[in-house]
Amino acid sequence: MGEVLVRESTIEDEHLAGAAAALIDLVASENDIARRTPAWLARKIAAGRAALALAEPPAGGNTRELVGFGYWSAWEDNRYVSHSGLVVHPDFRGRGLGRRLKEVLFASTRRQLPEATMMSLTTSPRVKRLNESFGFRVVPLDELTQDPAFWRGCETCRNFEEVRARGERCCCEGMILPPGEGPGGRA
Ligand SMILES: CC(C)(COP(=O)(O)OP(=O)(O)OC[C@H]1O[C@@H](n2cnc3c(N)ncnc32)[C@H](O)[C@@H]1OP(=O)(O)O)[C@@H](O)C(=O)NCCC(=O)NCCS
Repeated sequence: MGEVLVRESTIEDEHLAGAAAALIDLVASENDIARRTPAWLARKIAAGRAALALAEPPAGGNTRELVGFGYWSAWEDNRYVSHSGLVVHPDFRGRGLGRRLKEVLFASTRRQLPEATMMSLTTSPRVKRLNESFGFRVVPLDELTQDPAFWRGCETCRNFEEVRARGERCCCEGMILPPGEGPGGRA
C-alpha cells in the first residue's frame, strides 16, 4: 500500500463529496455515525471544514482515491465545534490514518476558531481513546451545545428510533476539549 496524503480540504476538493458520503454509508450500518448527503458534505469540504485521506494513485493513474474522511461544524455563534463523520476505509485501518485525520480536524478547528470548545460524540472505544490523547474528556451531554440543529444530526444514526423510544437524546458519550487545551494549547 502506497503513501496516503492527509490534509485539510479546500474548495477544489468539492467533487469528493460523493465519495465521502459513500464512505460514511459504507460503515453506517455497523457503526454509530450520522449519514450525510453529498450536497451537505460538499459545503463542509468547500469551506475547509473537512479532513481528507487520499491514497496514492494506482500505477499509471493520477487520481487519488478518498480512503478516509472527517468534518467539523460550528454551533451557537462559533462557541462550539463538533468533530464528526470520522471514517477510514476498512482496507486502510490500523495504520494511523484515523489519528492523522483527527490531527487535521484539531488543527483546522484551532486555526479557524481558536476560542471554540471542541466536542465529539462517540460510542467507539477507539475514538474515545484517540480523543483522550488530544485532551478531550467525557462530560454529561448537557455540557455540549444545546443547539437543536446539532442534536438533529443523531436522527440519521442507526440507533435513533431505539434511543428515542427510551426517551433519551443520544446513545453516545459526549466529550469536550475547551479552548487553549490540547496539543499546542495555551499554558
Ligand atoms: C475509528 C476509525 C476512523 C479509526 O481509523 P484507523 O485508521 O484504524 O485509526 P488509527 O490507525 O489511527 O488508530 C487509532 C487508534 O486506535 C487503535 N487501533 C487501531 N486499530 C485497532 C484494532 N484493530 N484494535 C484495537 N485498537 C486499534 C490504534 O492503536 C490507535 O491508537 P494509538 O494512536 O494510540 O495507537 C475506523 O476504525 C473507522 O472508520 N471506524 C468506523 C467508523 C466509526 O465508527 N467512526 C467513529 C464515529 S464516532
